[in-house]
Amino acid sequence: MDTKRWYAKDLQQDEQGVIRFAAELLKAGEAVAFPTETVYGLGADATNEMAINKIFQAKGRPQDNPLIVHVATAQQLKELVSAVPAYVDKLIEAFTPGPLTFVLPSNGRCAQNVTAGLDSVGVRLPGHPLALKLLEEAAIPVAAPSANLSGKPSPTTADHVWSDLNGRISAILDGGATGVGLESTVLDCTQAIPIILRPGGITKEQLEEVVGTVMVDPGLANEKEHPKSPGMKYKHYSPDAPLWIVKGSAEKLQQVIDTEKEKGHLIGVMAASDTVSAIRADVKKDLGGNMGTVASTIYDALREFNKHNVDLIICESFSEEGIGQAVMNRLKKAASQYIQ
Ligand code: TXA
Ligand code: MG
Repeated sequence: MDTKRWYAKDLQQDEQGVIRFAAELLKAGEAVAFPTETVYGLGADATNEMAINKIFQAKGRPQDNPLIVHVATAQQLKELVSAVPAYVDKLIEAFTPGPLTFVLPSNGRCAQNVTAGLDSVGVRLPGHPLALKLLEEAAIPVAAPSANLSGKPSPTTADHVWSDLNGRISAILDGGATGVGLESTVLDCTQAIPIILRPGGITKEQLEEVVGTVMVDPGLANEKEHPKSPGMKYKHYSPDAPLWIVKGSAEKLQQVIDTEKEKGHLIGVMAASDTVSAIRADVKKDLGGNMGTVASTIYDALREFNKHNVDLIICESFSEEGIGQAVMNRLKKAASQYIQ
């Protein structure tokens, strides 16, 4: 299949025309990748089972992992679900459009393979202007997982999407690098108290400011418990080389690096600016000066190491406060060792 790619210059020249074309493809049952404020999504008509199959095929995604449905308005969200607790209205008001996914009881309007047979559906209103324009133009609910091959880091640029899915999908809309860089927070809203199923762009602290107590799925921290979100049981985001997280000072990281270096290994390191500048390694990725830049650059860094063919990637450990909770969740899933 030829994958049509619209570049930033195409959007500058004729944004409306490009959006209309992409929306027509979606309505015709094709799979189209587009930017959101978190990561790129691979979209298809959430009411069309055959269209949704194209997503699973293009990504090589396990069939038991449900998709998030993207809509432009709160009204459209309500058309897909059978109950909306009052606290969800507050969260919609506070955080949408933005990186928060609501898991609510499904009313069956979405195709079976969107929800992987569950009786709930995940819905979100993305904050990226292009995503919103596309959803408004298509006027259908659009199921969209991250636009990467299953098991690869999520894509934060159109180039990432291109390298994974060129030839496997109908089109890619290039809106530049995404902002948040990590996926949305998935929140179970089927209970009296909301439960975080996947930490993401909206932090637990932010949610609690609006609705009081928020719980975290025990399956996220405890390997003996099943996570409630099917996707969280998979080992995601794996770079080609093994990844070790090392907790401690720059000196401690350097010791680990030197020991592995002596074995003749090519070592990559990723860490925040201060640590990176204090360390010697073969390939260094600077994740920036604060947790926001760490979140937005981490997937790109993981992909970059593949290009350098490093034998081992060492990453520093971060505090799990705020967005750090999502950062550490993704790192731990990608890592084979956590040295504390
Ligand atoms: O930021 C994001 O959420 C991105 C952009 C493209 O919107 N999308 C994304 O989708 O990360 P995906 O498919 O890579 O991850 C969806 C996660 C999976 O862990 C899945 O199991 C969970 O959401 N999920 C979806 N529907 C669910 C449901 N009804 N109950 C529990 N978990 C659900
Ligand atoms: Mg994903």
